[in-house]
Amino acid sequence: MHILVTGSNQGLGLACLKVFLQAGHHVLACTMVINEDIKSLEKAYPQHLSVFEMDVSCDNSIARACEEILARYKKLDCIINNAGVLTGRNVKIADIDIKEVRDCFDINVFGAMLVTQKLLSLLLHSDNGSILNISSEAAILAAPHYNYSYCMSKTALTMFTQCLDTELGMNIRCYAIHPGRMRTGMAKLPGMPPDAYEKRTLLPETTAEGLLRIIAGEVRPEHKTRFIDYLGNPME
Ligand SMILES: NC(=O)c1ccc[n+]([C@@H]2O[C@H](COP(=O)([O-])OP(=O)(O)OC[C@H]3O[C@@H](n4cnc5c(N)ncnc54)[C@H](OP(=O)(O)O)[C@@H]3O)[C@@H](O)[C@H]2O)c1
Repeated sequence: MHILVTGSNQGLGLACLKVFLQAGHHVLACTMVINEDIKSLEKAYPQHLSVFEMDVSCDNSIARACEEILARYKKLDCIINNAGVLTGRNVKIADIDIKEVRDCFDINVFGAMLVTQKLLSLLLHSDNGSILNISSEAAILAAPHYNYSYCMSKTALTMFTQCLDTELGMNIRCYAIHPGRMRTGMAKLPGMPPDAYEKRTLLPETTAEGLLRIIAGEVRPEHKTRFIDYLGNPME
């Protein structure tokens, strides 16, 4: 399969690259920064990994990368809109800087919409196409922490997915996915409890393996909201 992953230079995105390449798939890695991890995967899998610079908060950057992809590929089997930021943790409504909320939506929601819009034609050539939008339990849960920007953006991404499924579901499987509480850099961000990272046992590679089963169609959840976890269980 040909699988595209955004935000692929660390965390779940990087784990997807490793797991999918090891399983023999062709991966299109979209990333803001081509770091050493990506460079060493490029060396190890020269035939199967293609890397594209893409900042999902920038329309021009998305357009440039997608033009290159459209010129090089005739078909895609899956788009994983994974790039995301966690901002605004426990910032009170009185203190919110609305620009921070808009910036968060640019990355977590509008980036995913634009990438999907620009590359949809390639997915329609697959006989097993899917779109996986990496959401979060925060889409439906604002306690014990409130992150106005993050929670609201993940709710929007989840509803975007449901709209996509209503429009395209006959041809393309669309899912919003809670990836689990993973041991990634996001668990180390300012505002997270100091031991949040150490307490987590779920490796992003385990989530990536779950995503691969969903992409391959080995797990075919049919819940009407299309909001599931990485194992295919319904989130509502
Ligand atoms: N970790 C968890 O427990 C958890 C739980 C629920 C949902 N999620 C979701 O899972 C997804 C992956 O998160 P993670 O845990 O792997 O976090 P992470 O380690 O912080 O990785 C986030 C990735 O998104 C990329 N990114 C951020 N802004 C971007 C932009 N403007 N353009 C392109 N890429 C951008 C980052 O690139 P840079 O490294 O260059 O900044 C990084 O590769 C996110 O959507 C997150 O909301 C995570």
